[in-house]
Amino acid sequence: MNISPFIQGLPKAELHLHIEGSFEPDLMFEIARRNGISLPYDTVEALRAAYDFSNLQDFLDIYYQGMQVLVTREDFRDLTAAYLDRVAAQNVRHVEIFFDPQGHTSRGIEFATVIDGIRDALEQGEREHGISFRLIMCFLRHLDEADAFDTLEAALPFRDHIAAVGLDSSETGHPPSKFARVFAKARELGFPAVAHAGEEGPPEYVVEALDQLQVRRIDHGNRALEDPALTARLAALGMPLTVCPLSNLKLCVVDDLENHPLPAMLDAGLVVTLNSDDPAFFGGYINENYQAMSDHAGVDDAALAEIARQSFRASFLDAPRRDALIAEVDAWARKCGVGQ
Ligand code: HPA
Ligand code: ZN
Repeated sequence: MNISPFIQGLPKAELHLHIEGSFEPDLMFEIARRNGISLPYDTVEALRAAYDFSNLQDFLDIYYQGMQVLVTREDFRDLTAAYLDRVAAQNVRHVEIFFDPQGHTSRGIEFATVIDGIRDALEQGEREHGISFRLIMCFLRHLDEADAFDTLEAALPFRDHIAAVGLDSSETGHPPSKFARVFAKARELGFPAVAHAGEEGPPEYVVEALDQLQVRRIDHGNRALEDPALTARLAALGMPLTVCPLSNLKLCVVDDLENHPLPAMLDAGLVVTLNSDDPAFFGGYINENYQAMSDHAGVDDAALAEIARQSFRASFLDAPRRDALIAEVDAWARKCGVGQ
């Protein structure tokens, strides 16, 4: 995909990125080899050929399989460093990264190994690329409440390094209400919340995320549009949605990028951001997601600039850096002759 100079130069924040979903096949094979673990695919090409998904669960099965080769602190560092190198080249200035501790602790990997490795790379990325960061710990919703409580407890020694808690994995049949008590405890401990909702699940799950989890952002949120009252409520709240077009296409949440709901979201006055979700599996990083909406959904450069501003406004950044990055978007848009 050709990326326009405007999108390439646009300062952006990525707010919806699963670090385990940035695991490119070549790095996966390299780490598997050095850990003496075999993958059920002989070649990088055979693995890539398996990335043909009909729904979220098809993808998750391969996603959880891939992350099993991650064992050491260096593995988590290398995974995260590879992502940061990619997005530094796309002019991403701030990242808020999801990680799935239960995908690792369930295999006997220490919580500390995971978070220390990720943080090694994030700190290096901030020094070398000037990319600021926050970490968001996700609970796997297909597991039970007790497992989530255990994970929250395991995170406590690292609480200063965790900006928020999130909710991901298999949505259907696992409503936000299942974790209301976990999120209440997290709130008591001072963690703000985000949650995946309305990707495959019904609009009611978005309502539950608002009312029962008291989220600050909705991840995906596409299906909220099916409920006009909910859509109006999200718009009135200025509740950010972290939208991921190429993910939606690969997981058959939309049948065609031409039919992506982003323009309808903008028309409804929703606050939207654009993100890549699991870029190694879905065929593009953040710039490819911006470009896809420009090429196929008729979203013009002025709207893309506003989406980039919203990505900083919707972040957990402190006000001075947030405002400085928004001013960089303004300057870039002005330089390119792109109006408001
Ligand atoms: N949805 C839910 N869970 C996930 C996703 C997603 O798109 N990616 C990684 N875990
Ligand atoms: Zn996601």
